[in-house]
Amino acid sequence: CSKPLVDAFNRRISYLRLSVTDRCDLRCSYCMPEQMQFLPRKEVLSLEELHKLALAFIDRGISKIRLTGGEPLVRRDVIELVHALGRKLGDGLEELTLTTNGTQLEKFAEDLAAAGIRRINVSLDTMDGTLFQELSRRDRLNHVLRGIAAAKDAGLKVKLNTVALKGLNEEEIPFLVEWAHAHGHEITLIEVMPLGEVDGERVDHYLPLTAVQDALAARWTLTPSDHRSGGPARYFDVAETGGRLGLITPLTNNFCAGCNRIRVTATGQLYACLGGAEQVDLRAALRSDAPDARLAEALDEAMRIKPERHHFLIERGAGPAQPRHMSLTGG
Ligand code: GTP
Ligand code: 5AD
Ligand code: SF4
Repeated sequence: CSKPLVDAFNRRISYLRLSVTDRCDLRCSYCMPEQMQFLPRKEVLSLEELHKLALAFIDRGISKIRLTGGEPLVRRDVIELVHALGRKLGDGLEELTLTTNGTQLEKFAEDLAAAGIRRINVSLDTMDGTLFQELSRRDRLNHVLRGIAAAKDAGLKVKLNTVALKGLNEEEIPFLVEWAHAHGHEITLIEVMPLGEVDGERVDHYLPLTAVQDALAARWTLTPSDHRSGGPARYFDVAETGGRLGLITPLTNNFCAGCNRIRVTATGQLYACLGGAEQVDLRAALRSDAPDARLAEALDEAMRIKPERHHFLIERGAGPAQPRHMSLTGG
């Protein structure tokens, strides 16, 4: 590849999180408000622009691309992008994957597998229909469960993502882990992060994973695993269930020193850190009269401005670490 992406803290950036839409068919309250103003379509990068951007990143040493949203599968032409990027697998790109809410997986699982995707992450905070509707403001649990089954049938490895929420899904976590492992899925628990409008509810429902880890360790034998997925999770093998459990702990155990990631929104804004406002306008570069040169400069700029770490704080009165919603960068 041409010049690799290395930031000011000597971190090699190899993982691109590429959002293909800000839209979603759910409204999880920790991610976006019920009345979300979606972007006008002309603001959003075209399929050709997304493809060109991804190729420029691969040329700079990005070996893993995760498509995100919003919900990536609500974008009509996303499968075309997946197929186009799938052709780069083994030719610079090592992994192509996506993070989805699962509602449309039943329709798309076969296509994703055919394009070369091997594993996907599916968000699932609860298996209780009433709580699912409360958390996501939509009644779609059964669609998600059918989607997960379809992904497995299509040969995709599925990792479930569960945001740990005190007083909401807290009691259900052991069951979710058991269910995931019994069905051959990995599961990762995530600490809720202060992006978007952070109100008292978000703060009250914050559940430190240190407490969850202790509770699970009292029930099962957890052995730290040397498995790495290239993301922020630390993994444990659970002897009794025979499955793998990940923990993503931005609040209780910072992982920024090993950061290998950047994220790009559907409008082509590169955010150098999930917890920072530092951004570079890649769309302007793409739409300029010298796109290749401008893109190269923009990526160099991103490496200069990437902060050392986030400063997430989740307590009453602290306000959001980031006023932008999670749905804009897909995490
Ligand atoms: P793997 O490839 O399976 O490791 O996936 P991943 O954990 O990188 O991606 P996923 O989209 O499943 O994200 C899981 C959670 O990790 C989400 O809540 C993301 O917001 C969060 N996350 C991913 N990258 C970062 C990061 O760099 N910083 C922080 N604070 N959170 C991140
Ligand atoms: N804090 C932590 N995780 C979040 N996600 C969405 N919003 C937040 C938040 N505020 C999760 C989703 C999805 C992943 C991409 O990010 O549940 O699994
Ligand atoms: Fe990297 Fe920022 Fe995430 Fe920390 S919060 S791991 S520095 S993107």
